[in-house]
Amino acid sequence: MDIRFRPFGETDLPGYRTWFAADEELSRRISYPDDIWFGHVRRPENACWASVDRTNTLIAVLQVDREEGTGYLDIALRPKRRGRGLGTAVLSAFLAGPGHGYEVIEGRISPDNAAALALVRRCGFTLLPDPDDDGFVRAIYTFSKT
Ligand SMILES: CC(C)(COP(=O)(O)OP(=O)(O)OC[C@H]1O[C@@H](n2cnc3c(N)ncnc32)[C@H](O)[C@@H]1OP(=O)(O)O)[C@@H](O)C(=O)NCCC(=O)NCCS
Repeated sequence: MDIRFRPFGETDLPGYRTWFAADEELSRRISYPDDIWFGHVRRPENACWASVDRTNTLIAVLQVDREEGTGYLDIALRPKRRGRGLGTAVLSAFLAGPGHGYEVIEGRISPDNAAALALVRRCGFTLLPDPDDDGFVRAIYTFSKT
């Protein structure tokens, strides 16, 4: 599958916002992309990627907040295209591509988010035994130095 990444831009906002109107699961799991959110992801230390397919359709949004070498990842897959392996394809492509800008990628996942837990396991993340202070599962992906 042809998956590309480009910076998420202001023109992506209206379309991305419609995903939240159509899907309660997304609102439960991911920050709504209001103007404050957009200001946050545009800060120099942070990043947000739009993942598009070969027809240039937005298929996923990957927000990565950087703290030193660690990128803290939130991923949202286009609602109607979930559950068919696309999330796995996008995250794998991210780890093989733009993810290399970090030493470690970390996700914080609610213990009841079965899809996200299965996704990170499938993509080679390690799930730490102890949750963070908010009860989220810490999923870590470390790039090999070789
Ligand atoms: C999490 C998310 C990105 C996964 O994308 P996806 O395209 O649905 O995932 P895939 O189809 O590639 O499936 C990945 C794994 O999850 C499993 N899975 C998918 N949907 C599932 C569901 N509803 N319940 C349980 N497992 C599920 C798949 O079986 C697969 O596991 P396997 O590889 O062991 O078979 C997507 O569901 C999403 O955007 N969810 C809402 C936002 C969110 O929760 N983001 C993560 C916040 S940390």
